[in-house]
Amino acid sequence: MHDVLYINGRFTTTAERVIGVEDRGFQFGDAVYEVFKFVGKRPVFLSDHFRRMAHGLEAIEIRSPWDEAGFTSVMHELLARTAFDDGIVYIQVTRGEATRAHFYPDDLQPTVVAYSRAFTFPDAAKKERGIRLVTTADLRWKHCDVKSVNLLANALAKKKAQRAGVDEVLLIDDGIVREGASSSFFVVRDGVVITHPLDEHILPGVVRDRVVSLAHGEKIRVDQRPLRENELFDVDEAFITSTTMGVMPVAAIDGKNMRRGNLTPRLQRLLDRVESTS
Ligand code: PDD
Repeated sequence: MHDVLYINGRFTTTAERVIGVEDRGFQFGDAVYEVFKFVGKRPVFLSDHFRRMAHGLEAIEIRSPWDEAGFTSVMHELLARTAFDDGIVYIQVTRGEATRAHFYPDDLQPTVVAYSRAFTFPDAAKKERGIRLVTTADLRWKHCDVKSVNLLANALAKKKAQRAGVDEVLLIDDGIVREGASSSFFVVRDGVVITHPLDEHILPGVVRDRVVSLAHGEKIRVDQRPLRENELFDVDEAFITSTTMGVMPVAAIDGKNMRRGNLTPRLQRLLDRVESTS
């Protein structure tokens, strides 16, 4: 089955081959992307995703192809044309197409694609069971705050998780726990939620940000500080967050079972509530 695809101002399907071989997204990974979730055709946290993409485009000097109103209207049209109700939308903006050279022209027309895809989000049993992680070295570039399509290090790390029969990796850099290959990471200790501060070492996760606000709203203390690898097993709870997983408890890391508690399910419920009203 082919999915509905938006490309540079028109709609087609993913059956059509639309990218030129000299597109800089293909040759240089010169592009940013976003993934947002929709439920009952309703996009979740759409403006958060727009803002992060605008920040990423600015950071790598790509002219934004749309303002927020233009972006929102394209995404709503994409969902209106989509045959199913629940899923994700993948959006990618590349610098554009030019004769291959590291130096990039300043005036390139960005390539813009977006397509919807059906996705089954974790059910209640999975959300209770949680996921297992393995630690591995963080070999990514030094601007992880930009959601760049350079995902080779993430993909290789994720393969390690797959080979270990688990769901996700936990990236360790310089003795510090950064995040997952496609998720943000949190622990809870003595009633305090701890997560990496927003800097160039991690992606500013849309769900991460929402969870921090939800915790603040409940008067739960959140320490945004680097967590050392040797603190990892001295915690009461651990969880990851992402667009596709929501708040997901961590059941085990490197084969060691993690303690479970009440704060993770509580944040899970709070997120479910804001997702359905956002
Ligand atoms: N990944 N950290 C990394 C490195 C990520 O790739 C992601 C998201 C997150 C969580 O961000 P958010 O809460 O905005 O989804 C954290 C997406 C889902 C992906 O690559 O498919």
